[in-house]
Amino acid sequence: MNSTDTSTLYIHPDRNLALELVRATEAAAIRATPFIGRGDKNAADGAAVDAMRAFLGTVNFDGVIVIGEGEKDNAPMLFNGEHVGNGRGPACDIAVDPIDGTSLTAAGRQNALSVIAVSDRGTMLDASSVFYMNKIVTGPEGVGVVDLRQSIGDNIRELAKKKGKDVGEIRVAVLDRPRHEGLIDEIRSAGAGTRLMLDGDVAGGINAARYESRIDLCVGIGGSPEGITTACAIKAIGGFMQGQLAPRDDAEREKARAAGLDYDVILSADDMVKGDNTFFVATGVTDGGLVEGVRRKGPIIRTESIVLRSRSGTIRRIVADHLAEKWL
Ligand code: FBP
Repeated sequence: MNSTDTSTLYIHPDRNLALELVRATEAAAIRATPFIGRGDKNAADGAAVDAMRAFLGTVNFDGVIVIGEGEKDNAPMLFNGEHVGNGRGPACDIAVDPIDGTSLTAAGRQNALSVIAVSDRGTMLDASSVFYMNKIVTGPEGVGVVDLRQSIGDNIRELAKKKGKDVGEIRVAVLDRPRHEGLIDEIRSAGAGTRLMLDGDVAGGINAARYESRIDLCVGIGGSPEGITTACAIKAIGGFMQGQLAPRDDAEREKARAAGLDYDVILSADDMVKGDNTFFVATGVTDGGLVEGVRRKGPIIRTESIVLRSRSGTIRRIVADHLAEKWL
């Protein structure tokens, strides 16, 4: 930087909230660790929720949970609409997923993450009345060539052309579900390869968008809350994402209409989270392609996290060593 630099980043170097929030995902991941491979996903989730909530309470912000663990009566903590933070900092919307991949954690499988995403108050779409969203996520090369309105074959061919790759080199992440049988066939018929995910399409989406990843696209129907969370990350990475709410039945269509949601419309990342001020933080619970899971090294518990911020365009990896005796 020189003395004539007028970039607003340098004039107003405001703080990166995610650097404080990462303590909450680290805590959730650490507390979930004893439950890895124990076959009880609710116990793992409960431990992560309690830890995340306790740490969120210490962060200087006034957060309202837009995407949480569900409705107040069913979710005693981190429910939609709950205020979190110490109330003294900026007014924010917050999406929490104490564990994305509760079944992965319970089974002792890879790719479970603890996740928080934050944006300015009033900017995060509340899509909680529709459980599923059809999504397509890729890197910045997808802009102008990839579109949910096109067939998956056309998307693969156009993306390959833009990336200067053979179609046979394109790798597409998709949740391994019966509902995706046709989609998986189409991907393979187009000449591309699949990376079938057992769970955890937040990590899948980020992997599709990030530079130097072996995944080129992440497609298919996953959770709507995970879609909004992913959008916060994609805006920070500078990737491309679209989503379309996928109500399961008439009752959900009615709930969507009542909430003012249009399930016919294709949503851009900007529709899912408005503005240029998004934060995303994720800590590995179990090992995965994005970050390593929690591990014990003698007296130390080691965590790995990624911390993304759209305004500054920073992608940080944070490896933290925590004295195990403090977590007894
Ligand atoms: P949970 O950890 O909350 O169970 O979510 C895991 C997940 O795989 C998400 O990443 C994904 O968006 C969603 O579930 C898919 O839902 P379903 O398992 O019903 O296909």
